[in-house]
Amino acid sequence: MFDSAIYKNRRQALRNKVQNGLILILGNNEAPANYPDNTYKFRQDSSFLYFFGHSHPGYAGVMDVEAGEDYFFGNDVDMDDIIWMGPQPSVKDLAAQVGVQQSFPFAQLKEIVGKAIAQGRKVHFLPPYRYDNMMLLEELTGIRASIVKKYASLELIKAVVALRSVKEACEIEEIDLACNIGYEMHTAAMRLCKPGVKEQYIAGVLDGIASSYGSMTSFATILTQHGETLHNHDHSHILEVGRMMLTDAGAERLSNYCSDHTRTVPVGGKFQGRQKDVYNIVLACHDKALEIARPGITYMSVHQEVCKVLAQGLKDLGLMKGNIDEAVAAGAHALFLPHGLGHMMGLDVHDMEDLGQIYVGYDDEVRPSSQFGLASLRMGRRLQEGFVITDEPGCYFIPALIDKWRAEKMHTDFLNYDAIDKFKDFGGIRLEDDILITPEGSRFTGEKRIPITIEEVEAIMNE
Ligand code: GLY
Ligand code: MN
Ligand code: MN
Repeated sequence: MFDSAIYKNRRQALRNKVQNGLILILGNNEAPANYPDNTYKFRQDSSFLYFFGHSHPGYAGVMDVEAGEDYFFGNDVDMDDIIWMGPQPSVKDLAAQVGVQQSFPFAQLKEIVGKAIAQGRKVHFLPPYRYDNMMLLEELTGIRASIVKKYASLELIKAVVALRSVKEACEIEEIDLACNIGYEMHTAAMRLCKPGVKEQYIAGVLDGIASSYGSMTSFATILTQHGETLHNHDHSHILEVGRMMLTDAGAERLSNYCSDHTRTVPVGGKFQGRQKDVYNIVLACHDKALEIARPGITYMSVHQEVCKVLAQGLKDLGLMKGNIDEAVAAGAHALFLPHGLGHMMGLDVHDMEDLGQIYVGYDDEVRPSSQFGLASLRMGRRLQEGFVITDEPGCYFIPALIDKWRAEKMHTDFLNYDAIDKFKDFGGIRLEDDILITPEGSRFTGEKRIPITIEEVEAIMNE
């Protein structure tokens, strides 16, 4: 946890951005896996973490805009809890640790919210994504659980996004440290990537490295020799020479700040002919984003410039043809890159996605596209100093998509299907780093860059 002043300042900044009313920030509760007492590892809500710091189940926080007061809600433990969980700090002490002077038993939340509603005051809440909190909101506001998400406060969403998007120095430090765990995970994967090893063994080692730092992975690890499936969580294959292993994995620090990196490496430690060609195209895409990302440029335009590098590279390989600018404008390259260049990262790996991607990645100026591929770009708006975003281009040969586009004669002016067909057994490559937007441009997060050039990757795999 950070110093209490950090949380006080954040709450004051939030109150300054919301005109009036009560701001309600719900924490998360334990979530049962297969029976009530056997729970998934607890994960606090990220906005609760941001404004009220504590990573324990059963809390809520309220900010009163007009009164300029904050309230912390939670129940003190009883003897039964102490017997099973050990001694616990009082809720009053927990509140004080994050600079809140007034704390109350959880049941009093209903009284305070009910009073505000009776007085005709606005009660702002964020979109709930867990069913227990939808039900709690029904109890607090009278709005049915099934529709309460629609009544989330847009004013509050926009205010939270504005604050959480620009990372403070203490947050950047945590992200850098999370990326150091990512470095350890990815270099371990490179060393273990040998023919005959099962994917799930390596995935398990990576998850263990993340856990050994006290928290967990920042999302379900993707580790596969079938990287053409973008979010492949099937780890059942045995690694074979001739394929590449794509690893998309990250860690959370105890503070819950995240990392998110992807590397694609040759099984056995040596890239083969066409693997080198496609790999270097993706690397050039990745470096293009780094070269041009800076405050003031839209990430939509960075994405488009990267797509041109991809299309030019694939044209040079004989897989695409025609005018590159026109091919990218038409979306022909999306056969190979059907996802976006990146997303915000912070307390969530897809930062603030629960608040609505449209408010996190877009604004009044930059609107999302409906074009296949570009529509999957999570982050399009202008970059600002202090944003942390991912740079994650890829090139995939998805047999079912190739067959479909070919049958439908999609973009035949720009795609050489006869040549593309020969890559249907290739798999996919993605390279991902997390970058901080600085006054001058951008920098990698983390102390060391995970090996990424062909030489660096082969060197570590053959140590
Ligand atoms: N790990 C999912 C992503 O890179 O967005
Ligand atoms: Mn990733
Ligand atoms: Mn990512």
